[in-house]
Amino acid sequence: MVTPTAPHVYLEDIAKYDGQDILLKGWLYNKRSSGKIRFVMLRDGTGLIQCVGSINDIGEEGFAAVDSLSQESSLMVVGTVKAEPRAPGGFELILKQVIPVHVAMGEFPISPKEHGTAFLMDNRHLWLRSKRQVAIMRIRHAIVKAIRDFFDGRGFTLFDPPIFTNAACEGTSTLFETDYFGETAYLSQSGQLYGECGAMALGKIYTFGPTFRAEKSKTRRHLTEFWMIEPEVAYMDMWGAAELAEDMCCFIVQRVLETRMEELKVIERDPAILEKIQKPFPRISYDDAIKVLKNAGHDIEWGGDIGGDEETTISNLNDRPTILYHFPADLKAFYMKRDAGNPKLALGFDVLAPEGKGEVIGGGQREDDYDVLVSRIKEHGLNVEDFEWFLDLRKYGSVPHAGYGLGLERTVAWLCGLPHVRETIPFPRMISRLKP
Ligand code: 4AD
Ligand code: MG
Repeated sequence: MVTPTAPHVYLEDIAKYDGQDILLKGWLYNKRSSGKIRFVMLRDGTGLIQCVGSINDIGEEGFAAVDSLSQESSLMVVGTVKAEPRAPGGFELILKQVIPVHVAMGEFPISPKEHGTAFLMDNRHLWLRSKRQVAIMRIRHAIVKAIRDFFDGRGFTLFDPPIFTNAACEGTSTLFETDYFGETAYLSQSGQLYGECGAMALGKIYTFGPTFRAEKSKTRRHLTEFWMIEPEVAYMDMWGAAELAEDMCCFIVQRVLETRMEELKVIERDPAILEKIQKPFPRISYDDAIKVLKNAGHDIEWGGDIGGDEETTISNLNDRPTILYHFPADLKAFYMKRDAGNPKLALGFDVLAPEGKGEVIGGGQREDDYDVLVSRIKEHGLNVEDFEWFLDLRKYGSVPHAGYGLGLERTVAWLCGLPHVRETIPFPRMISRLKP
């Protein structure tokens, strides 16, 4: 066997090599034969291509090589790139050489036929190789990159909060506890409290990391481990944070449209729906939302929590995200600042994605008064000593400040039009899933 001398190319770059000989390294997606021709569908993680091998070009040896390979066997091929408008991706490879790398040990568990979700989730480590899952992962990556570029472009500093924490940020009912050399530590529910320290040090920061909630709820929106992006800005108020969220959402959507059109096509997501995501996002107060919900037949009174079904109703009002603001303070976390004119209201907001997707962002202005914050901590049944470091921010140069948290998986589900968050992260963690 001759060592191939043609340059190794990734399929996403193939258009630059029309007419040239290249080397592809990948896996067998599918194959078929027809008389004196072998067709190999090869995937390399960045694309899929049909390779055509005729007996004259690859000989009996090439035919035997193709015939030895089953679905997901790995192989390298050398061939000439040929524009083919009818081919998916626009190109074909006219084979010159087929080099098997590893023949799969038995039948690949995931065949092109339909499988149930439970089976696919059990085989998540292999399911990730399918066209659709690859497209979702590439869109997720584009969203992550867009978020970083958005904040970096505005002079924010990335600020990494710890994952082991000593206290609750978002209430004690969803804490994961772990032993920390004899002390109790909790897996971080949110980087916010540390992000506030960062904002006081650096002016404007964003955190980007995994967060954990022992969510007992089995819904299509909840994971026990998810990634959150939390900007925090000194001298910003609630409306400033809401505008930042609005600008960020538009930036992300625009980037996905610019760079991931192929992947949107693979997952059959209509880009026209995303093109409508433009400023301004309609704003609705909690008071008004309650009226709308009552009219729509929901059994809810002022003071009631806006749950999944209610969010769906509100988010269906518009074809762009809706900003819901001024929640009853009793529903919200201890750190939320209250409205000066009506202390029953918290200066908080949620961004609800359209198409019934619901909350993707939660945020608001923070309580910046030392004494008020101490009483809130007590009212919430939390331990003041656990928050001494956090209270120090209100002792030394306290300023108004605000921020929010964007859930990455819910954002991916929204932009990809997926009904459930489980396909938005490589290995979803849910109440009943820790494997693979
Ligand atoms: O609304 P949440 O709980 O807000 C906070 O954690 C604040 N500390 C954020 C801040 O102001 N810095 O969570 C923020 C977002 C939600 O809007 C949602 O997108 C996502 O995080 N999220 C979840 N995503 C998946 N699974 C879960 N269990 C989630 N819980 C929250
Ligand atoms: Mg929330």
